[in-house]
Amino acid sequence: MESTLRSYIENNKLSMQDAARLIGVDKSQIVKICQQTYPNWQDKESEYVERLRKAGYTASIPQGIAIDTDVLVLTPSVSRFKALADDLSSPTGTMSSSIGMAIGTAERGKTHASKWYVQENPNAAYVLYVDGATKVQLLRDICEVVAFTRPHSMDGCITTLIEACKYTRRLIIIDEADKLPVAHLEMLRGINERCQLPLLLVGEEGLKTKTDRVPRLRSRIRNPIVLFDRAQAVDVAAYYHEAANIDIDMATATRLAQHAQGGFRSVVNDSIAISKMSKASGLSSITDNMLDKLCA
Ligand SMILES: Nc1ncnc2c1ncn2[C@@H]1O[C@H](COP(=O)(O)OP(=O)(O)OP(=O)(O)O)[C@@H](O)[C@H]1O
Ligand SMILES: [Mg+2]
Repeated sequence: MESTLRSYIENNKLSMQDAARLIGVDKSQIVKICQQTYPNWQDKESEYVERLRKAGYTASIPQGIAIDTDVLVLTPSVSRFKALADDLSSPTGTMSSSIGMAIGTAERGKTHASKWYVQENPNAAYVLYVDGATKVQLLRDICEVVAFTRPHSMDGCITTLIEACKYTRRLIIIDEADKLPVAHLEMLRGINERCQLPLLLVGEEGLKTKTDRVPRLRSRIRNPIVLFDRAQAVDVAAYYHEAANIDIDMATATRLAQHAQGGFRSVVNDSIAISKMSKASGLSSITDNMLDKLCA
């Protein structure tokens, strides 16, 4: 019978040298196992096949790398975001200083974390501030996600929110809040107080500078403010594990993280490009060749 290890190696178009490097042993050992001449080769074979499998190689004719971009990696930033949102929405928590803030440059995963949180927590709701929307339009958007209604007037909105928050602690996550004019921020502060409605403002760094200039707002910001960090190599590795079900080595993860320059959207776009290359070549792992092409 043909050795399983050999069929893994051949189906994945690997050389003996490649396989040895991936498995982390001498080439001569791999060759002998494939020839079934290595002492107790059966024991080693299943272990090494398992290592190749974990590295993303399959026994069948490979179909390339399939990516599910819909996953969430629990990065340290996401964990901090969750902790803050949990703290703000805790039914028994204090309403004092109940405006949270999560900031970070573009692409760091703020919107993704916000939407994930709302999906997991029925009492949290997500509103995207559209640049140029009036105060009443923003309030209507909030009423819509909290109470599924869009009252006509500002008063109508406030009454709706007071009612909706009377017995249940809700949390409104307002995305792209860095674009809010100061007057809108002042209004939100009033809503936070009148309606007993905690808020989580999400946006780019400018948001912090803006709120710092409004003393009444500054003192109502819940500590700690969450900062979204750059995507690191470990985050990239975790992403490939979740999204593609493959384990990549640290050198590959580091190269991908560098190429993405810390942006999660770039990590995702790169993974789509790699998936296409892998399908074109029939390989189901990331090769140096693919990385070179990507970074060219
Ligand atoms: N923790 C994560 N796990 C998996 N994928 C993520 C994660 N964070 C972000 N992404 C991916 O990166 C993409 C960009 O992230 P997102 O839109 O949340 O960035 P952002 O910080 O809101 O940036 P922007 O300033 O452009 O609005 C998302 O669509 C998602 O596919
Ligand atoms: Mg965003």
